Amino acid sequence: MSFTVKIRGRDDVLSVEMGQTILEAALAAGLPYPHGCRSGNCGACKSELVSGEIEMSPYSDYALSKAEKDLGLILACRAVPWSDAEVVWLDPSDTVAHPIRHMTCRVTGLDQATHDIRIVRMAVEAGGPFDFSAGQYAQVAFDGLPGRDYSMANRPSEDELEFHIRLTPGGAVSPYVAERLSVGETVKVVGPYGASHWRGNHRGPVLAGAGGSGLAPIKSIVEEALAGGAKQPIHLYIGVRAERDVYLEDHFTALAERHENLEVTVVLSEPDGATGRRTGFLADAIAEDFQTLDGCKAYLAGPPVMVESVTQKLKALGVRRQDCHADAFYTEAEKARLEGA
Ligand SMILES: Cc1cc2nc3c(=O)[nH]c(=O)nc-3n(C[C@H](O)[C@H](O)[C@H](O)COP(=O)(O)OP(=O)(O)OC[C@H]3O[C@@H](n4cnc5c(N)ncnc54)[C@H](O)[C@@H]3O)c2cc1C
Ligand code: FES
Repeated sequence: MSFTVKIRGRDDVLSVEMGQTILEAALAAGLPYPHGCRSGNCGACKSELVSGEIEMSPYSDYALSKAEKDLGLILACRAVPWSDAEVVWLDPSDTVAHPIRHMTCRVTGLDQATHDIRIVRMAVEAGGPFDFSAGQYAQVAFDGLPGRDYSMANRPSEDELEFHIRLTPGGAVSPYVAERLSVGETVKVVGPYGASHWRGNHRGPVLAGAGGSGLAPIKSIVEEALAGGAKQPIHLYIGVRAERDVYLEDHFTALAERHENLEVTVVLSEPDGATGRRTGFLADAIAEDFQTLDGCKAYLAGPPVMVESVTQKLKALGVRRQDCHADAFYTEAEKARLEGA
């Protein structure tokens, strides 16, 4: 049995199987439904339920507050229809619509960026062209392993794809990338996905915050902004644990030398000893540096705890919820915890 879900303002009518979420049905149909984490944590798939009945599986308050729920908003990634329904996207003009490609890629380069992050470069061999917006991600499947979400670190116009993959001990995929992946292997890449992409029409200041391998989408966004001639201040904050986790610093320093509107700050949360760098949590460093960020757009990526703490501080500094674009790197463990909540 299936239900019909209409998307107001678009021609698309989805057929949603019993037990399937609206987002699952949309993505299966190749519809670029705005979304991020697909696990009820980011709020990027927030939509208004115009009519019909849905049931929502667990999600975080950050993604959808009680007040928003009472106003009739839903999360498409959590919403399972129980009748035919109609929904409307919150800001269709803010949505990018690249075709979803199923590609075969070949690994062309591997670099050890830190003790636990590998930079993987790939060429698209079949299924392209791969159009995406800076900040988006793809589902990447190595050597028959399950697909995992990894953000593109290259600019969309560049030929080679670049991914920064951090080792998660005990994981199904990243240990393979850390220990066994080699140049020449073929990889399945499906995408692009995600709503946390660069908005080039915004003229106000930009705050870009990266935690660990969250630098991947933030690198793509910052480079795309500068290549497109963005003149507004771009404050790039890179948060890592200790000195050995810092990477691509020379790259960003060189970029800042060429673009006076780019300012780069590295913050260590667990320095090994005395250090000349900023220390503490990223959220606190940002709060120390600004009295207000009203009119600013923020792009954040990295561990969920960092993304949530920075988002809270940004809210207090005047950044509007719709100007805060975040990809929290949820792992299977974190998704399972939420499911059990
Ligand atoms: C939008 C998005 C973009 C991302 N971009 C990047 C990126 O650019 N770079 C990057 O490094 N990462 C990124 N990630 C994270 C990435 O997708 C993977 O989650 C990460 O690499 C871990 O994958 P894994 O297969 O190695 O570990 P997993 O198999 O996901 O396991 C992670 C941990 O969970 C445990 N676990 C597994 N299954 C369960 C379960 N059912 N219950 C409880 N515990 C379980 C494992 O033992 C392990 O400790 C992104 C995530 C998202 C959502
Ligand atoms: S809350 Fe639905 S995609 Fe993130």
